[in-house]
Amino acid sequence: MRVLLGEDTTHLPQLYAVPDQPWLRVNMVSTVDGAATGDDGTSRSINNGVDKMVFDLIRDLADALVVGAGTIRIEGYAVGRKPLVVVSRSGSVPPTQREAASGKVLMATVATAPYLDEAREILGKDQVLVLGSHRVDLARLKDELVLRGFRHLLSEGGPHLLRDLLDQGVADELDATLVPRIVSGSHPRITDGPPVDVPLRLTTLIEQDGTLLARWLVGEKPSG
Ligand SMILES: NC(=O)c1ccc[n+]([C@@H]2O[C@H](COP(=O)([O-])OP(=O)(O)OC[C@H]3O[C@@H](n4cnc5c(N)ncnc54)[C@H](OP(=O)(O)O)[C@@H]3O)[C@@H](O)[C@H]2O)c1
Repeated sequence: MRVLLGEDTTHLPQLYAVPDQPWLRVNMVSTVDGAATGDDGTSRSINNGVDKMVFDLIRDLADALVVGAGTIRIEGYAVGRKPLVVVSRSGSVPPTQREAASGKVLMATVATAPYLDEAREILGKDQVLVLGSHRVDLARLKDELVLRGFRHLLSEGGPHLLRDLLDQGVADELDATLVPRIVSGSHPRITDGPPVDVPLRLTTLIEQDGTLLARWLVGEKPSG
């Protein structure tokens, strides 16, 4: 479906509705030349009004957020309304999440994480999911979150986590915004890490003032 988004944005929630089944989608933004960050080293300096509108909307639609510890540290995620699942190999709880109310933050990590004990102390034992010895098993993470009642998951990256979610076949959908800018310089792309090769199928393309917002299904999953 191709949609020209005018002033009337009331139908956006319909365009971003997810299927009534466990679902993990990832939302990322980049420039036309592929930069996932701008001059402040975060995505804040490349996103724009319509991207932010969709970002907020799909956050509202999610039961929980799944975010790489690197992104939480660099972007200084504040404690928000939605439960936040921090994915971390080190087990180090990002500074901004250390004072979060009990039960608001989960950590997905590994048995060999150097900060595992500290994470349990800060977040509570039940809030720390050990999902592998050296690698976080992201499929198990999704299953565990669904068991806890979080059926609709939103990952906001970052690039290493997105790459791993694709590699492990865990992402159902990628919502990728392309903003009409070129920044050159050295910036990460929306994925980072060893090569993956994952087919995508376009289901929705929304355009507003040159910004392209695409919903891609990952693999051959049925559309919502
Ligand atoms: N354009 C966008 O939409 C967008 C979105 C998000 C982020 N960003 C930008 O991307 C940059 C950060 O990139 P990044 O690739 O470093 O972000 P990232 O994937 O969030 O962070 C990497 C860190 O997160 C943890 N992590 C990620 N994947 C993991 C996995 N599969 N298993 C265990 N731990 C995992 C590890 O934390 P530990 O070190 O604790 O082990 C790792 O060092 C920032 O500049 C940010 O602003 C852009």
